[in-house]
Amino acid sequence: MTRGCEKEYEGRPLLVTMGLDGDATTASAPAKCILFGEHAVVYGEPAVAVALEQRLNVRISPAKSWSIDGSSLTAKRHPHIHHLVHALWTNTSEPKPLSVHVTGDIPRASGLGSSAALSVALCAALDTSRENSGDRLDHDEMSHLAHMAEATAQSGRASPMDTSTSTLGGVVVLSDRKEDGCEWAFTRQLETPEGMRTWEIHTMTPPQDDVYLVLGNTGVHAPTSHQVALVAAALEANPERINEIRAIGSISRRGLKALQEGNYDVVGHAMSENHLILRNLGVSSEELETLISAALPTALGAKLTGAGGGGCMVALTRQPKATSEAIELAGGRTLISRLGNPGATLIEGPKETFWRD
Ligand code: MEV
Repeated sequence: MTRGCEKEYEGRPLLVTMGLDGDATTASAPAKCILFGEHAVVYGEPAVAVALEQRLNVRISPAKSWSIDGSSLTAKRHPHIHHLVHALWTNTSEPKPLSVHVTGDIPRASGLGSSAALSVALCAALDTSRENSGDRLDHDEMSHLAHMAEATAQSGRASPMDTSTSTLGGVVVLSDRKEDGCEWAFTRQLETPEGMRTWEIHTMTPPQDDVYLVLGNTGVHAPTSHQVALVAAALEANPERINEIRAIGSISRRGLKALQEGNYDVVGHAMSENHLILRNLGVSSEELETLISAALPTALGAKLTGAGGGGCMVALTRQPKATSEAIELAGGRTLISRLGNPGATLIEGPKETFWRD
């Protein structure tokens, strides 16, 4: 038996059900799409991402030994999960083994933040199974733990972009300073191989308009860690290329202003401009270029999204059907989403949740 509880997300009701029997807990977190600033954000430049309609659900239930979708948990196979389990339980309290089941509609290794959504949803679910319920995580702590899991998996070079967006939902802005016109949420720091980075994390609500994001998946898998290392190597070989990183930062700032004003034509234009620099940095691919060219005639703008090298492109459009068909004709698989969706959500589980705010 379950009990429903109405919460709201930007005026829209969000149903959270709390199981009154059974020991399972299910938490859910959204995919993300970066509108501006991927790669540059690793070097402290501003970036903007939105939570997508596509989500990942993690269901945990007590078991005799740890397993993930039927296979045993190992640090090598499941670095994010392994990291989180060890971070959430201190040496004083041993975690009881759990069976973890992952479902959802976020394509893996496609630039849509499936690993961040996994870390965030898992964090939310695992938190409820810790014994001290008075010590539940809030959004800041949850996204911090998930970020550390990402950083471990990306050799210490990971911005908190994906994990913050998956945790907070809506539209998330990262910057090296507190931004006007945004709601500041928390500060995040990380010691990267290139030095200490600090990000101010905000949410913002753009004016409503009839615009959509169409994501086009190339089907080519390119690990984020590899793409991030590629940019680091390009900068090491030619330190002047930091100017390209800074140029992305100023496009992000311009794109953010246009988003705040609801000027979606300018937002689209800035997205296309951002893509040209990413292409020049060497993180695009032939497949991404094909899908972007196919989308542009019916879109306000288009770019690769995420780490690139494969994965997805995104088009901002007022004609989602036409843009989606053009991308599919060029060989991509598409997903359509509105801008900004709910962040981490507990779907089924104990009453006292991470939801402290
Ligand atoms: C990956 O979704 C975005 C990158 O900027 C890496 C990061 O922010 O950690 C490429």
